[in-house]
Amino acid sequence: MSRDVIVACDFQSAEQTFAFLDRFPEEKPFVKIGMELFYAAGPEIVRQIKARGHRIFLDLKLHDIPNTVQKAMRVLSALDVDIVNVHAAGTRRMMEAALEGLTRPDGGRPLLIAVTQLTSTDEQTMQRELLIGESLDETVLRYAENAAAAGLDGVVCSPLEAGKVHARCGASFLTVTPGVRFAEGDVGDQKRVTTPGRARELGSDYIVVGRPITAAADPVAAYRRCVKEFLG
Ligand code: C5P
Repeated sequence: MSRDVIVACDFQSAEQTFAFLDRFPEEKPFVKIGMELFYAAGPEIVRQIKARGHRIFLDLKLHDIPNTVQKAMRVLSALDVDIVNVHAAGTRRMMEAALEGLTRPDGGRPLLIAVTQLTSTDEQTMQRELLIGESLDETVLRYAENAAAAGLDGVVCSPLEAGKVHARCGASFLTVTPGVRFAEGDVGDQKRVTTPGRARELGSDYIVVGRPITAAADPVAAYRRCVKEFLG
């Protein structure tokens, strides 16, 4: 897979989502379907967006006992998306189970990546509330190592950590990075943020961009700006 911009379609209905996607005259953006849209519109929205020719990152962040995650992944595997994910905090055994469940009888499967620490979490909150004594950087890197050891294809992390993840886990280990904002944009609830251009310099493979595109007055122009700044 090559580097790209993934648009987080955090909408509450299929209608809103298609109204948004219909605005793109030429491009077929790589789409992220998260909990909001999946819970609202169900698996059918995945099939419909796929049928329109978009690649899909199904961002459901599974985190449960290994048996449950394995069985859930078996169901998701039938949706034929391009990327799915779990929380690395679910442990290495859970990530291995996820991979097992995802792999089809012919050996094919979507890419599987693990969330390290949410980009809305800063170091102080992680240490105080999650009771993790390490630095945020070290936590992300150790979780990434666990994901790599479990056989996963990459992680979700901040662009600020992408280069370090590659140094630790290898250049081909994917870094999929939300927490992207235009230089003059609103940060919202995100904490570990940077611009598309800086994400490129830091080595992100994919940037995930939601509100800077979906809430823009001209979403197509905002998407094109992201692509230009990130892909150069
Ligand atoms: O609107 P915004 O650009 O902040 O959207 C970022 C998207 O990436 C959201 O859909 C959010 O759920 C997702 N995400 C994240 N941080 C992670 C994993 C996923 O922000 N660590």
